[in-house]
Amino acid sequence: MLNDIRSLLKEIGEKLPNLKNSEQLEQFRLEYIVKKGKIQALMQRMKDVSKADKPLVGKELNILRKGTEAKIKELKEKFENTTDSSPDLDLTLPGRRRFTGSKHPVMSVMDEMVDIFKSLGFTVAEGPEIEDDYHNFDALNFPPDHPARDMQDTFFMKGGEDLLLRTHTSPVQIRIMKDSQPPIRSIMPGRVYRNEAINARSLAEFHQIEGLYIDKNVTLADLKSTIISFAKKMYGENSQFRFRPSFFPFTEPSAEIDISCYLCGGEGCKICKGTGWLEIAGSGMVHPNVLKAGGIDPEVYSGFAFGFGIERVAMLRYGITDIRYFYENDIRVLDQL
Ligand code: PHE
Repeated sequence: MLNDIRSLLKEIGEKLPNLKNSEQLEQFRLEYIVKKGKIQALMQRMKDVSKADKPLVGKELNILRKGTEAKIKELKEKFENTTDSSPDLDLTLPGRRRFTGSKHPVMSVMDEMVDIFKSLGFTVAEGPEIEDDYHNFDALNFPPDHPARDMQDTFFMKGGEDLLLRTHTSPVQIRIMKDSQPPIRSIMPGRVYRNEAINARSLAEFHQIEGLYIDKNVTLADLKSTIISFAKKMYGENSQFRFRPSFFPFTEPSAEIDISCYLCGGEGCKICKGTGWLEIAGSGMVHPNVLKAGGIDPEVYSGFAFGFGIERVAMLRYGITDIRYFYENDIRVLDQL
């Protein structure tokens, strides 16, 4: 019996390396593994083996069966993964494409915005994402307990006295004013956080690009012309804009900037909620209290500030109707942008 097992082992050992494709493997399987196969035939003979020999014979037979099955499984996977069943090398076959990553659409829009502002003479600055109440609110002229604080639902840090996740990039304005002297022409891109219900138009974590321009005799006309120069480069000469009076504690007067809706061309649709306009930025003349908080004399200097939502700009750029697409990491979406 042992001899039979060993000769079958030898026979299998010689045949296995010569199997070239799935069909041959299947033939092999039928010959050895199935109920009527050669290994099973040996198994049947176990009952005639003497009690003393049973453990050894059983063990060898098991090794033969398991080893053969494992090898078949391995070859099966190998054959399934090769498109060409012939082992010959076909040099005319095209190579396999490697997956290449690319820049995230939000980041490429951000870089593009930064480049345009740089070309208009702005420098780039950054600030911390974990801010204190002073920079995020107080210094920006939000009085304590003022309802304007509720406009921006804030994530507060556990344990940290008055630490929070910044709700906008405006606190970087204060840091720049404290660190430098006018003239100031800076943009401040970065990530911001708000405790918002997540839907097609808003996320709890998104990006803004802040702008600050301070010098002598800066007026609202400078703000308008800067924004329009930027937006025409970003969206093309034909895009339409409007400045809508608004309120921010840190600017006076304040305006929200709208662009004509990319989907309906201004006729009114779902994206623009039927108005024909989409809001892309907040802006205004820097409030004297904010200049003072930054150590700048409002009697001598004036300035303007603006803040764009980058995801909004990217949605406009790529015609995306749901902001969540950016962060679901579906390669099919990101790849086509
Ligand atoms: N910080 C404001 C916001 O997040 C935008 C803004 C920036 C408005 C600068 C005016 C000036 O909504």
